[in-house]
Amino acid sequence: MTVIQILGSGSLIPDWAEALESREFGSVWGPLGEFEILWLADKLAFARWRMIPNSAEAELLHIAVDTAHRRVGVAKRLMVECSKYLAANGCASLHLEVRASNIPAQKLYESLGWRRINVRKAYYGDGEDAAIFCLSG
Ligand SMILES: CC(C)(COP(=O)(O)OP(=O)(O)OC[C@H]1O[C@@H](n2cnc3c(N)ncnc32)[C@H](O)[C@@H]1OP(=O)(O)O)[C@@H](O)C(=O)NCCC(=O)NCCS
Repeated sequence: MTVIQILGSGSLIPDWAEALESREFGSVWGPLGEFEILWLADKLAFARWRMIPNSAEAELLHIAVDTAHRRVGVAKRLMVECSKYLAANGCASLHLEVRASNIPAQKLYESLGWRRINVRKAYYGDGEDAAIFCLSG
């Protein structure tokens, strides 16, 4: 698996990654915002993060793996690669929000040592709760 990284405010997202994002999340977020980084694994997975300015924190915004390539460790390898880069660039604390019903994603984070620290009630537009996870180095 080859992983590449895209940095820079306004950078465009490849079509295949936007198609995957649209399938999994129902919308696309478009070009990278300030402090955002996108990791791309071949043409089958992506992870979008934001380094939070003036802090030692970063937030996972979205991760998705093509359905035909799941459960073979792609997301895990991508998460490890992202975490290493972020740690090496001053982000000692990582966090994310995930739908309470998204058990596969929560299992993924737990398998990597992330801890569930909180629940935000009715966080999503449809009323679903968000589980908050963190990883501190
Ligand atoms: C969540 C997601 C990224 C996992 O990707 P993946 O490449 O299949 O995950 P991996 O193969 O790296 O799995 C690593 C570990 O996570 C856990 N895991 C992953 N998918 C799981 C599932 N469906 N059920 C239970 N555990 C799961 C397991 O512990 C797994 O280790 P194992 O296979 O040795 O048991 C993928 O299912 C996906 O793209 N989902 C849709 C998008 C999404 O929900 N993103 C997260 C919210 S931003």
